[in-house]
Amino acid sequence: MNDRVTPDGKTAYLESGSGTPLVLLHGFPLSKAMWQPQVDALAHAARVLAPDLPGFGGSKAFDGTPSTDAMADRVVEFLDALGIKEPVVVGGLSMGGYVTLAFARRHASRLRGLILADTKAEPDDATGKANRDKAIALAQSSGSGAIIDQMMPNLVGRDTAASRPEVAEELRTIASAQTPAAVVDALKALRDRPDARPGLRAISVPTLVIVGEQDTLTPPAKSEEIARGVSGARLVTIPGAGHVANMEATDKFNSAVLEFLKQIE
Ligand code: MLT
Repeated sequence: MNDRVTPDGKTAYLESGSGTPLVLLHGFPLSKAMWQPQVDALAHAARVLAPDLPGFGGSKAFDGTPSTDAMADRVVEFLDALGIKEPVVVGGLSMGGYVTLAFARRHASRLRGLILADTKAEPDDATGKANRDKAIALAQSSGSGAIIDQMMPNLVGRDTAASRPEVAEELRTIASAQTPAAVVDALKALRDRPDARPGLRAISVPTLVIVGEQDTLTPPAKSEEIARGVSGARLVTIPGAGHVANMEATDKFNSAVLEFLKQIE
C-alpha cells in the first residue's frame, strides 16, 4: 500500500509514480481513499499525490479557523514538507475543487495546471449556508454516517446507483470512517467559502474541467460556468457518471486526465 505521512507528521497521503507532480484533493466527507483508482492508473504518467485534507483520514486538524483557504495553505505545507518546489498540477473534486480554486488564487506561482472536477465556483447562498448549519448539528448529534446517508441519493449518478452499487458502498465506507470533528470543520469551511467566480479570469495555467453528466450536486451547468470563465479551459462531460466521476467512470476520467497531462508536458 502507498499510504504515507509527511515528515512533519501533519498530512497523510497516497503516492505513486514519478515525474510531474499531480496533487489530487478529495471531496466531502471523504478522504484520499477516493483517489485510489487514479493513484493506481496514472502512476505511469505522473507523480500522483493524494493528501488527506485537514482532519480527514490520517491528517491533523486545522491549526486555526477552518476554511478552504486554510486547506489550500495546508496543501502548500504538504508540498514543502516533501521538498516539492517545482510547479504542480492540482486537481480537486467538489470540495477538493473549491480548495483547488483557493490554491490558484493564493499560490499561483506553485501551479502548472488545474483540474476541476464536479465542482463549482459560486459560494453557498443563504439556503445553502442554513443547510450547512443543519448538517453541522446532524454530524454533532449522529456522526458522519448520518451525513453520508443524507448525501447518498445525490452522490452517485442514477446509472451508477443502478448498475454498480459497490461504488456507493465504497463511498459509505470512506465517509463513515471520518470523525464528526473533521466533518464539522469542513462544513464550516464549505459554508464560509468565498465566491471564486471573480478569480477565474486570473487563472493563466492550462485548465481541465470534468463533470459527470448525471451530477446533481454540482450539475454540468456549474462546470460550464467555470470553463467559460477560465481562458482556454477544456470541458469534458462524462456520460453515465454522477458527482463522483473519478470513481464512477474511472477509465473515462483517467483518459481525460492523461490527455491533459500529455498536452502540458
Ligand atoms: C463534495 O462532494 O465535496 C460536497 O458535496 C461539496 C459541497 O457540499 O458543496
